[in-house]
Amino acid sequence: MTILALEDVYLSFGGINALSEVSFSINEGEFLSLIGPNGAGKTSVVNCISGFYQPNLGKILFNGENITFTPSYERTKKGVSRTFQNIETFQSMKVIDLIRLGAHVHLKASPFSNLLGTPSSRKEEKELLDFISDEILPILRLEDVASREVYSLPYGLQKRVDLGRALASRPNLLILDEPVAGMNKEESQEMIEVVMGFKEKWNLSILMVEHDMELVMRYSDRITVLNFGNPVATGTPIEIQQNEDVVAIYLGGE
Ligand SMILES: Nc1ncnc2c1ncn2[C@@H]1O[C@H](COP(=O)(O)OP(=O)(O)OP(=O)(O)O)[C@@H](O)[C@H]1O
Ligand SMILES: [Mg+2]
Repeated sequence: MTILALEDVYLSFGGINALSEVSFSINEGEFLSLIGPNGAGKTSVVNCISGFYQPNLGKILFNGENITFTPSYERTKKGVSRTFQNIETFQSMKVIDLIRLGAHVHLKASPFSNLLGTPSSRKEEKELLDFISDEILPILRLEDVASREVYSLPYGLQKRVDLGRALASRPNLLILDEPVAGMNKEESQEMIEVVMGFKEKWNLSILMVEHDMELVMRYSDRITVLNFGNPVATGTPIEIQQNEDVVAIYLGGE
């Protein structure tokens, strides 16, 4: 079962092609990594899938449904969630509030009844808080910092908060844009173990953009390689390691 498919996606910025003919798909429960040199277009792909950018041409299908022009929050409601490569936004919020924000797309009560604090909206809000404090905070080990402002935390913890926000919407497809960038080996390992724990528990499909090749090779079912906005190859870690075009790209860049 395919959960996500990109079909011939093109994206340009003022006449410059960021993505051309990008096609690949992710199966349900699969861990697919997207790799490539700096500026290859990886974050642009993530932005197209999450609805931050709209492709100039091509299609994005989620569970068979064409979501190419679906607004970002609607995609989150359907089960697509992403983390950010650069976590600069919402830094002044408290950890718990930022994570709660991730789940707000699912609240049924109208903003008006939320404002009034009607019984149904209060019940919904409580269920959400319980879900976050039972299922998200302990596994991410953020309980002790729940009421701290995000900016006051060490970088590695900020990345975990952003992951918590993405998980709070209970995605089916989790997109990670450089989840361990800037982390030491121990922090990276911890982060990936947390992700794998949720993957198992919720049968998540994962799209990970990452430069840490050791991690990519160890955890991916398949890998797609981008270079100058073009998909060069898709295959298992061993196939990718042995692919001459891929080797040339990486050695050429050294
Ligand atoms: N909003 C934008 N406006 C103009 N150009 C953009 C924009 N976003 C991305 N680009 C360009 O598109 C190309 C791909 O950028 P992108 O951020 O997708 O690369 P990346 O593979 O994620 O790189 P990195 O590994 O450094 O994060 C680059 O040439 C970049 O300058
Ligand atoms: Mg990027």
